[in-house]
Order: sequence, then structure tokens, then C-alpha cells
Amino acid sequence: MEALIAILPGDGIGPEIMREGVRVLEAVAESAGHRFELREALIGGAAIDAAGDGFPTETRAIVKEADVTLLGAVGGPRWSAPNTPVRPEKGLLDLRAAMNVYANLRPVKTHPALYSASPLRPEYLIDVDIMVVRELTGGIYFGKKNRTADEATDVCTYHRSEIERVVRMAALFARERNGKVASIDKANVLETSRLWRSVTDEMFREEFSDLELETMFVDAAAMHLLTRPGDFDVLVTENMFGDILTDEASMLCGSLGMLPSASLNEDRRGLYEPIHGSAPDIAGQNIANPCATILSVAMMLRYTLALKEEAALIEQAVYAAIEAGYRTGDIAQADTRPVSTSTMGDQVIEQYRQLAKAI
Ligand code: IPM
Ligand code: MG
Repeated sequence: MEALIAILPGDGIGPEIMREGVRVLEAVAESAGHRFELREALIGGAAIDAAGDGFPTETRAIVKEADVTLLGAVGGPRWSAPNTPVRPEKGLLDLRAAMNVYANLRPVKTHPALYSASPLRPEYLIDVDIMVVRELTGGIYFGKKNRTADEATDVCTYHRSEIERVVRMAALFARERNGKVASIDKANVLETSRLWRSVTDEMFREEFSDLELETMFVDAAAMHLLTRPGDFDVLVTENMFGDILTDEASMLCGSLGMLPSASLNEDRRGLYEPIHGSAPDIAGQNIANPCATILSVAMMLRYTLALKEEAALIEQAVYAAIEAGYRTGDIAQADTRPVSTSTMGDQVIEQYRQLAKAI
């Protein structure tokens, strides 16, 4: 197959982890005979430095033309002073809005090889397999903002149609999985959550009565994710709650550096990115974990490019490399020396080649 892929490395560790993601893509193309044309563009702080805008026109044009987009991470202390006029994060939000990728899938799946990397006891980690569906283009992150010297406002708005489309996406995923959806809100306090809950209840009564719906307040959900993570199947929630809960949930998998994501729009021309940030404290040292980016490449092959076998092979290759003892610092075992970002990439590619040959 042929595909045009926009590559947006971004800031901090972005370029390092992207390098490994691209190498994995190239290995897949070579071994399966696909032609991926990669077109690199600026996003975030790097784009602000070059063009004064975190999501410049040239990047917009490349993303629009591409079949799919892969992103590293944005942000850093250079662009984070309290009064900075343009922030890198705004570039990422603008990109998500331009692509209309309203459904952000964040799979949280534990693996025995990484139980020891999690701060939770192993008995809590058995068979955890959650698909978090985070609403990505609405809510408080996109509402009107205002700031005076002594007062600040962020407005949170949701329209029924924004809730319906993301809840529908979550329900359709649940149908392919275990048929359970947990919808997370704060309906005891927030008006947007009360609308969210009533729309969701109505949809499950009328359109998805074959599925099981559980509604839960976000504070309770934060606790239940740690005390009974194995009970969740699909979890759907608004933008900010999803942002926070998935960083928490990543600890079930051992590290924030393990969690990929897929952001989909109506026609599934997706944006793929790790859920972690640009980690400026370790940038440029070749020590960051590239697995979340590599696993995002797998999601891209599965959901946008319909290359399911190659996607599954990448996922197997990542865990085979980890089982073989290759681990970056964030997931390293106490008695072993962590490997570099590029060695981790080498090992995943090596495992991929062996797995592909065995088919
Ligand atoms: C994420 C990140 C972003 C978000 C930031 C960088 C804008 O935290 O993808 O989870 O809040 O969505
Ligand atoms: Mg986040």
C-alpha cells in the first residue's frame, strides 16, 4: 500500500522518539513492501521559533494533504513563562481542531513483563485492558479564556452533538470488546456534566441497549482506576478528565512512556501521538522511552491504514524486546542497566524482523 504520512517531531524529546517511530515505519515498509512517503513539518515551540505560530500554514497544508499524521510532543520551558503570548500547546490544540479529531483513543493494557515497573501491587494489574476514549476538541481546553491582573476565566462548553459523536465512538468500540462502557463526569457539580450524563443515558437507552453503561463521578473514577482497574472495559469522558485520568492510568502499565494514542475524526484520517509530553529535563540525551511513539505507529497502521497484521507485529515486537531485557530508564529493573532510546528502537526493529520472517 502507499500512504503519505505527515511527521511532526515537535519539541524536547519529540525528535528523538520520532526518529525511532520513523525507523519502525521504514522497517515495516521494507518487510511488507509498502511505500510510505514521509513529509516532515514543524509544530509547537519549534514552529513558534521558526514561524511565530505553533501550527503554521505550511504545517497545516502538509497535514491536510497527508493520509495520516504522526506527532512527537510539544512544549518546553523556553515557551512557558506565565505571560508568553503564544504557547506550543496551543499549536497542538489547533492541529487537533483543524483535523477535527474529536475521539482520542488511549489504550491502557498491562503486561506482566512491566508489572515490576508499576508502583501498584501486581495483583491489581492482572488483565487490565481499558480503552479510554477522551473527547479531544471541546470542553474547557477550547473555551473562551480571559485574564486580568487578578482574575482568570476558562469557559467549559459542550454541545449535545459533541457528546453524541464521541460517546457513539466509545459504544461502537465497546461492541467489539466486552460490551461495557463507563462514562465519567462530575454531574453532581457541573452543568456540562449533567448534559453529558443525560445525553449518554438517552443514547444507551435508545441506540445501545445491548451494552452495559456505568456512570461515575471523576473523583471516584480516579480511585477506582487504582483499586479495580480490571473492571473497566471502555471508559469515555470529556477532554480535561480524560487528560488527567490517562496520565494516572499509565502508571498501571509501568510508565507514561508506554502509552500511545490515536485521535480519530469521522473518516478516520487520524492523528497519532504518545500521551506523554516533551520531557525537556531529559531531552537530547537519547534516554527517553520511544515505545509510546512506536505503539502509536502500530495504532496508525491499525486504524487509518488498515494494516492490522503489521500493527499486531509491532506490538508483539515491543513486548518481545522488553521481555528480552531491553528497557529504557523509566521501565528498567533495579539490577539492570537501562538502554538508550536508539537501542530500544534497534531491538524493537530486530524483533519485528524476526516475527515477520516467521509468518
Ligand atoms: C496530552 C497533553 C496535551 C493535552 C497538552 C500537551 C496540550 O497533555 O496529549 O495529554 O492536554 O491534551
Ligand atoms: Mg496529557
